[in-house]
Amino acid sequence: MFAKRRVAILISGRGSNMASLIEAAKAPDYPAEIALVVSNIPGAPGLERAAAEGVATAVVDYKAYPEREAFERALNRALTAHGAEILCLAGFMRILTPWFINRWIGRMLNIHPSLLPLFKGLHTHRRALEEGVRIHGCTVHYVTPELDSGPIIAQAAVPVLPSDTENALSARVLRQEHVIYPLALKLVASGKVPLQQGRVEMEADWDERAALVSPQSACAE
Ligand code: GRF
Repeated sequence: MFAKRRVAILISGRGSNMASLIEAAKAPDYPAEIALVVSNIPGAPGLERAAAEGVATAVVDYKAYPEREAFERALNRALTAHGAEILCLAGFMRILTPWFINRWIGRMLNIHPSLLPLFKGLHTHRRALEEGVRIHGCTVHYVTPELDSGPIIAQAAVPVLPSDTENALSARVLRQEHVIYPLALKLVASGKVPLQQGRVEMEADWDERAALVSPQSACAE
């Protein structure tokens, strides 16, 4: 029996990515267990969803702290109290300081709704439509101090269709987010994609199919 890595998921909202990680971690051979879900917003819908799955939850309300670092110290205390080894940001809407990020470097992942390095920041689907790109998608990456710029672990591409609205495109991307986040966490928790000297080191026997969801398969639904 191998030891599962203890994971904390940080959310601010509905938590659909969180739910996909909780679901994946139910598999006996999944290398991680979800030890905690933390929200910086009291009453975030994802908290109830996590509790219904029997996952421990905590709220660290950023408004209760005068400064960002005091908030992050409280967050860090909650994480260490639950023995978290890996952090997954999943719709966590607080910018973290280098103090916090450097504490968790190589052990903190984020999912971003675009094919990075395109469309960093907010409103990615609207901007993809405005730019007229034909392929859009999502990315799981290690978190580094520069926003949405950390080394990439997995990506999924989806087509942009002529009839697309922001909502339709966002839903198509979200379905793939729910595929690649569990995949990326599995790779990280099993030590297959370590962050070394600022790059993701892939194993020599890397199966490239494991990190690619193509427009063709994304069209199937
Ligand atoms: C997702 O689109 C994710 O890529 C972004 O925030 C959104 C969170 O959605 N970082 P959910 O709370 O996981 O449903």
